[in-house]
Amino acid sequence: MKKPVIIDCDPGHDDAIALLLAFSSDKLDVRAVTTVAGNQTIEKTFNNALKVLSFAGVDVEVSKGAEKPLIRELKTAPEVHGESGLDGPELPPATIKPSKRSAVETIVDVLNKSSEKVTLIPTGALTNIAQVFISHPEVKDKIDRISLMGGSCYGGNWTPAAEFNILVDPEAANIVFNSGIPITMCGLDVTHKAQIYKDEIENIRGIGNKVAVMVAELLDFFGKFHEAVNDKFGFAGSPLHDPVAVAWVIDPTLITTKSCHVDIETWGEFTSGCTVVDYNDVEGKPKNVDVAFDIDREGFINMLYEAMKKYN
Ligand code: RIB
Ligand code: CA
Repeated sequence: MKKPVIIDCDPGHDDAIALLLAFSSDKLDVRAVTTVAGNQTIEKTFNNALKVLSFAGVDVEVSKGAEKPLIRELKTAPEVHGESGLDGPELPPATIKPSKRSAVETIVDVLNKSSEKVTLIPTGALTNIAQVFISHPEVKDKIDRISLMGGSCYGGNWTPAAEFNILVDPEAANIVFNSGIPITMCGLDVTHKAQIYKDEIENIRGIGNKVAVMVAELLDFFGKFHEAVNDKFGFAGSPLHDPVAVAWVIDPTLITTKSCHVDIETWGEFTSGCTVVDYNDVEGKPKNVDVAFDIDREGFINMLYEAMKKYN
């Protein structure tokens, strides 16, 4: 039985690879893809999702979501993903017809119509998900779990305290983390261990189909940023953040998690967007989040490699 999922993303190089991993899996039934502003503006992330999925020959509803966070101004990440949000490969114009429905309308409708509970896989800011919970709280009962890329227990990547997805919209993250829905948090603690190395990128390129070659070109560009920050983070490769959130849904045995209480800092002058993980349970609050700390890196990269072989 395939697991029904909705992916909410901000493509973004790693988002694009997360989408391709999800659509290649015979374990997932991707009911819709929704997009949010984050890595780039909503126009760009929406268009990037349409182009990548069209290029891969995928047929799915793709909806446009929030153009800015709930209350803050938008932060984008051209340093990492380029001006287009998906610099590197030259992708032809999209052939998938953009959905006329908003991300919120799409998510609510898919949840209402699903006969079984759905897993949400957000890989960008949590603005769309929060808006669904604000406008249609009743749909929470149709969500099995949220496997998200975001946050960290030990240190941020965009500020010393915060990871980018949570930092973009801390208020949205606060709503989602306090929704009562089971959450698997694939934060930097695990994604910084989910690095892909140059020889592994060449193996993917060597698969030879156009999608695998395009993914290698995405990783060529993505690698430029991570090489540049190698002295800060000690990277030997590129961390594949978003695909980890998909990999957990496909095969949770690849990833080690610990149930912890997590709060979201929304007020700190220096700490806004921090996922405050009570790793040692010092406050004894309810453990609302399964926080990912480790990964079978080789198994993860092999999953990705096998996934790319499925495209033609
Ligand atoms: O901090 C990494 C996250 O921010 C990833 O989801 C990446 O795509 C960006 O959105
Ligand atoms: Ca992302």
